[in-house]
Amino acid sequence: MSAEIIDGFAVAAELREKIAADAAALKASHGVVPGLAVVLVGEDPASAVYVRNKLKATAECGLKSLEFKLPASTGEEEVLALVRRLNADPAVHGILVQLPLPKQIDADKVLGLIDPDKDVDGFHPVNAGRLSVGLPGFVPCTPRGSQILIDKILPDLSGKTAVVIGRSNIVGKPMAQLLLSRNATVTIAHSRTKDLPAVCRTADVLVAAVGRPKMVKGDWIKPGAIVIDVGINRIEVDGKGKIVGDVDFDEAVEVAGAITPVPRGVGPMTIACLMLNTLDSARRSVGG
Ligand code: GUN
Repeated sequence: MSAEIIDGFAVAAELREKIAADAAALKASHGVVPGLAVVLVGEDPASAVYVRNKLKATAECGLKSLEFKLPASTGEEEVLALVRRLNADPAVHGILVQLPLPKQIDADKVLGLIDPDKDVDGFHPVNAGRLSVGLPGFVPCTPRGSQILIDKILPDLSGKTAVVIGRSNIVGKPMAQLLLSRNATVTIAHSRTKDLPAVCRTADVLVAAVGRPKMVKGDWIKPGAIVIDVGINRIEVDGKGKIVGDVDFDEAVEVAGAITPVPRGVGPMTIACLMLNTLDSARRSVGG
């Protein structure tokens, strides 16, 4: 039996259409256009691609974007001053500082200075805390997008077992919080977990967010499970570059009940959720 392929590309396109309609309605009712400021420091090629895709999506959804490209040699104080300026600008509803930042800049200090109510990445400790205690706030985009895909396949996670592989602040921990908020029984597995394949085999919902190409094999998966592959890994196949996930798709598709492909799975959902968080922020700014 072969798994259902979860088409994140199509779900994200549908979501962007809805965001565009809602943004147009917000403009008509309140004269407000959601504004996203994107800060890129340095020339990391992967970051440049991510930022380009984010700016493209912003335009497609009818949101306004402000791009700040700073040289790799930029000092910490200059980035902090820019964040202070964006915090104070009422036309800016979302602030995204692309990571990683160059070594001379303390990322925690920069992320910690962003106004939590403009923190559309959901990386500020205040938003991590809000998620953990069940208060409204910004949820990081990749877990939010992953949860939307899971909701489409299995809307009721009560009594289900979920395993998240990876304990990052950006994906693993917030993903686990979201699954817990849906009443799943959640395990966070990581590099020190003993017998990882056996832990993964307990999962009705398995989320892989480790950054290791094709690590999750077919025999790690419970038959019929939902598999969400957050990995975006560049590998060489026959001398050519290829993008693969953290899950060995060809093996997993034979065992899982539903699975996200890479590409066209979680990736497009991450960007759509950045738009959604920016729209949410603009709506909150007018009391919506
Ligand atoms: N670098 C890689 N992914 C992300 C992301 O989602 N947000 C930011 N700010 N930087 C990133």
